[in-house]
Amino acid sequence: MSEFIPWVKPLNRKTIETRATGWSLEYEDFPCDIDVTGPLLYTLFQENWQEIQIGHVVEGSVLELEFTQPPKICILYDGYLTVVTEAWHLHLCLESHLGGPHSKTPLELRKRRLVSRAAFYRHLNPAGKARGWGIQFWNGDSEKMMSLFLPNIFLGEEEDLLAENKPQLEKLGLYQELREIYVLGNSPIPFHKNPLKRPYLSVCRSSRCNPPRNWQPIFNALETAVKEAEIDVEVGTAGCLEVCKKGPVVFYSEDRTWYTNVTPEVAKEIVARHLVKGEKLPENLYPPLKK
Ligand code: FES
Repeated sequence: MSEFIPWVKPLNRKTIETRATGWSLEYEDFPCDIDVTGPLLYTLFQENWQEIQIGHVVEGSVLELEFTQPPKICILYDGYLTVVTEAWHLHLCLESHLGGPHSKTPLELRKRRLVSRAAFYRHLNPAGKARGWGIQFWNGDSEKMMSLFLPNIFLGEEEDLLAENKPQLEKLGLYQELREIYVLGNSPIPFHKNPLKRPYLSVCRSSRCNPPRNWQPIFNALETAVKEAEIDVEVGTAGCLEVCKKGPVVFYSEDRTWYTNVTPEVAKEIVARHLVKGEKLPENLYPPLKK
């Protein structure tokens, strides 16, 4: 794993995209490697979820979603950031999506899916005055992916338009603070390591995996074992871990190991033997070892 450097090297790349309406988008690109996008998105989704909205904007269609509670899950699994709320979830490919134990993602597809450009933007009116602030991502085919809408000084609590001469200037704080760190590189990234790269154990909670079984006792056993072993590993759940049979399925992110047929006893062994001593459990490994 490469060393985490808590400073962004500025790209100094500003572009303007003009629209037929006379409005335009001013983009300031920033590096889109995982040690930059990871801390930025973690900060937004975990610490500033009340202030942001997520969406997708193309000509003829706009989608805007907001958080009413903190996300239930914010995790990086196989290159995809997954953020789950009570009502909706999102995926964004921040690192190469390698694929599950059966099917490796073709190289070409990995490149297309990956965030390949990222920029802070200002939405400018025909007079060149900023009327919107946010962050835009593009994939490897230069298609617009998710947009992140930052607080707007011209919108009130109910998304009502404020009088032109009464903007809430304090709302620009988040944009300005993040721009200093991630676009201009004037302030350090406020983490000592990438918060999305913390090692984790995940249990598949989908009923597709093995309907009669229950993932909760496995989750509880992993959580207790990790606490007792006093190791820095997060325990979470996932919608699917790309095995889809022989559940309960558990995945360990550090060395991309899948375990199947996991019982609470096996869960404890995974922590005690694999995570603490570095010995994998051959009897539950997936795919099984060749004899
Ligand atoms: S549904 Fe459990 S691994 Fe896919």
